[in-house]
Amino acid sequence: MITIASSFTSFTYQNILKPLLFQVDPETVHELMTDLGEFCGSYEPVRSVFSHTYAFIHPSLTQKLHGIQFMNPVGLAAGFDYRAQLTQILPAIGFGFGTIGTITRSSYAGNPKPRLGRLPKSKSLLVNKGFKNAGAEVVIKKLTQLKFHYPVGISIGRTNSRLLATQKQSIADILKAFFLFEASHIKHAYYELNISCPNLLGNVTFYPDKNLHELLREIDQLKIKRPIFIKMPISETDRETQKMLEVIVEHRIQGVIFGNLQKNRQDHSVNKHEAALVNNLKGHLSGKPTWVRSNELIRLAYKNYGKKLTIIGCGGIFSAEDAYTKIKLGASLVQLITGMVYQGPALIGQINGGLAKLLQQDGLRHISEAVGVEN
Ligand SMILES: Cc1cc2nc3c(=O)[nH]c(=O)nc-3n(C[C@H](O)[C@H](O)[C@H](O)COP(=O)(O)O)c2cc1C
Repeated sequence: MITIASSFTSFTYQNILKPLLFQVDPETVHELMTDLGEFCGSYEPVRSVFSHTYAFIHPSLTQKLHGIQFMNPVGLAAGFDYRAQLTQILPAIGFGFGTIGTITRSSYAGNPKPRLGRLPKSKSLLVNKGFKNAGAEVVIKKLTQLKFHYPVGISIGRTNSRLLATQKQSIADILKAFFLFEASHIKHAYYELNISCPNLLGNVTFYPDKNLHELLREIDQLKIKRPIFIKMPISETDRETQKMLEVIVEHRIQGVIFGNLQKNRQDHSVNKHEAALVNNLKGHLSGKPTWVRSNELIRLAYKNYGKKLTIIGCGGIFSAEDAYTKIKLGASLVQLITGMVYQGPALIGQINGGLAKLLQQDGLRHISEAVGVEN
């Protein structure tokens, strides 16, 4: 049941807090919110109040995938908790899992500002951070002492530096990041391998099958036991995506995430006026502009590799119906960021509550029965 407190906080967020926060620079608000989340998460009584207010628990939503127990299918996508601050508070808000990062071997101060913009009419954010993060060693130090109350994932990518000029150097850099996390005592549950950040320096790409194969062959050698999910681009054609998936299933990779940001500002969901306002700004779009293409690629991946790969649906989820659409196309889990920014933290419990209801309406007892039914 969605509590009265959850509905109240949802109303307060959208009608009072958001209009105030949206007056302030988006990156400042992001950092303020994650600092606040870290602070709240460090106190058990606060976590308990959040949990009673927000979290929705139902047996139809729990799943065990690749040995990991997920209390519900709704996760935080990579990019929001890039300073590894939110592992303690997110389960209390109702998330079933959460990804930290993207983290790279070496730190990166971020692309030149502005790195974040709002397009409220398009239900989107303009993102140009380029893997701003403190680097693997700092993040490991921060997470080593923590106990996690839900599955935590680490998103790993290539350090954003022109010094990594070749494919070989980039692979060595990514391997070193994996190695550092594997050698640590962090109790993380899974990895994401982010090959699809559209905002990086240099011309190295892992999209051509030969390049992807070389990267994955080296990662295979690490014999990592935790599942690895590849964060996929949504910018590539069906044929190119199909070729990437053909390579992926040959390696020790458990799943794919569709997908990352939208490069195409001509997407029909982008409001023309807002597109003109950000015309001279760098970056790529989250939220609704990712919706159609990520769904098309979930469908494609499930149809051709649904038995070999677990699919995580990500892009433009703002409601339980949105999450359910991705699940019915073939996603076993879903992730989001932008929906939470626009609708507030109560959205997570509302999605889970709504999902349980939608399953029941369709006469299904468990989420696994819905995965891929409309493919
Ligand atoms: C502020 C921001 C930062 C992001 N940074 C990353 C990142 O570091 N790594 C990554 O894999 N995806 C990153 N993304 C992409 C998201 O993980 C997600 O794929 C995309 O935003 C679509 O989901 P959404 O519509 O629910 O936001 C970022 C997105 C946003 C909004």
